[in-house]
Amino acid sequence: MTPVVYLNGEFMPLQQAKVSVLDRGFLFGDGVYEVIPVYQGKVFRLKEHVQRLQRSLDATNIRLYKTEQSWGMLFEQVVAHNAPQAKELSIYVQVTRGVAEKRDHICPADIEPTLFVMATPVCISVDLDSVTGIRAITLPDNRWTRCYIKSVCLLPNILLKQQALDQGAEDVLLIRDGYVTEAAASNVFIVKNGLLQTPPKDNLILGGITRDLIVELAVQGDFQCQEKAISEAELAAADEIWVTSSTREIVPVIELNDKPVGDGNIGSMWYTVAKCFQAYKAQLAENR
Ligand SMILES: Cc1ncc(COP(=O)(O)O)c(C=O)c1O
Repeated sequence: MTPVVYLNGEFMPLQQAKVSVLDRGFLFGDGVYEVIPVYQGKVFRLKEHVQRLQRSLDATNIRLYKTEQSWGMLFEQVVAHNAPQAKELSIYVQVTRGVAEKRDHICPADIEPTLFVMATPVCISVDLDSVTGIRAITLPDNRWTRCYIKSVCLLPNILLKQQALDQGAEDVLLIRDGYVTEAAASNVFIVKNGLLQTPPKDNLILGGITRDLIVELAVQGDFQCQEKAISEAELAAADEIWVTSSTREIVPVIELNDKPVGDGNIGSMWYTVAKCFQAYKAQLAENR
């Protein structure tokens, strides 16, 4: 069955969704986006995703505002159109500054933003024993310094990830001024001597919703997490390294720059936190 998407006030089959070539998202990458998981048909961490989307919109002066409730209703409609095919989905929301009359860096103030929402089936394994670790490399973080904005301008991220793939790795951990920031499309955690650590939220990383949930689970759970700058040397000496995101959840990195991370196996802390994460998801689904 064809996916049904939402574009500027209407639901339609994916193939019918069309945007003008004068859309500033197409011409300039002038837009922001959000990716939101749906587990058991339920939108995950709606408030947090909507708040981050609004922050991205405000930071780029794209004038679109909806309440959390109206975003929630819109997402539920998109899910309802697509859920018969898949219960586990990932919602993609993109807002661009809109379509101006001509291509010009300076944009007229009165244009309407373009709003697009689609849902894609995802398959995330909840069987932790079937998870395999990934290989990663480090590369200099050559992106701009406003990485807290979830901008659709992802060319640096794409090129960095491709460089990792070209070198036989599955992901890239980014280093700026001697410190790890994040991965191409994920946040980074390390474990050293039983202590979980992740870089603090600042302008150099995207404040991940998955990252924040792990920090939150640490406060409630039986593990500790410290938000602190992590040097390249600390990264290299870590017992465990993970990358986290909404579409991949928590992924262990077992090899960094051709060297094993820790003993080269998935670490015990990963199991503890991944179990907590799955329990949290299951509990939310039960409380529907
Ligand atoms: C650059 C970057 N950092 C971190 C993340 C993780 O964010 P979240 O956990 O909200 O998916 C993403 C997700 O797309 C990302 O693109």
